[in-house]
Amino acid sequence: MKIRLAATAAILALASALVSLPTRADDSQDIGTGAMGRGGAWTQFKGGEAVFKGVCQGCHMTDAKGAVGAGMYPALAKDANLETAAYPISVIVNGQKAMPALKNFLSDQQVADVVNYIRSNFGNRYKDKVKPEDVKAQR
Ligand code: HEC
Repeated sequence: MKIRLAATAAILALASALVSLPTRADDSQDIGTGAMGRGGAWTQFKGGEAVFKGVCQGCHMTDAKGAVGAGMYPALAKDANLETAAYPISVIVNGQKAMPALKNFLSDQQVADVVNYIRSNFGNRYKDKVKPEDVKAQR
């Protein structure tokens, strides 16, 4: 019985690995934005932390320290560029160079939440909060 269970688990693990392979290949061509085509998939992310984990950390890394590899992903940790909240809003909504515009994929609330999240975490201590209306103004 134990052996059968182990064998079943192994088969399941193999099957899920096979299933996830094509997805990974897709994602690597469009780092972090693989879910974009699936329209509305990101509405599930509620709150700044969830948006960061679901959308941003694929490029900016879990610790928001950025990465240099296939591309240059700037650190959001201890980032003086976040001082003026309008700047991160604009980058997220309208994109900037290799950072994709996310206006069609995130709601005003989600952008406001993630901006407030990155501006008050990862060594950033900006106290002023942005509101969904601030995001709307930049669309
Ligand atoms: C596909 C990869 C990718 C994803 C996903 C992504 N970013 Fe970026 N981001 C970048 C790149 C590349 C840049 C650098 C753009 C440039 O060269 O100006 C950047 C720049 C930024 C900047 C400007 C940083 C600075 O110091 O000037 C902010 C703020 C930012 N991203 C926030 C976010 C947030 C918040 C999310 C999630 C909602 C996110 N990014 C998702 C790739 C990404």
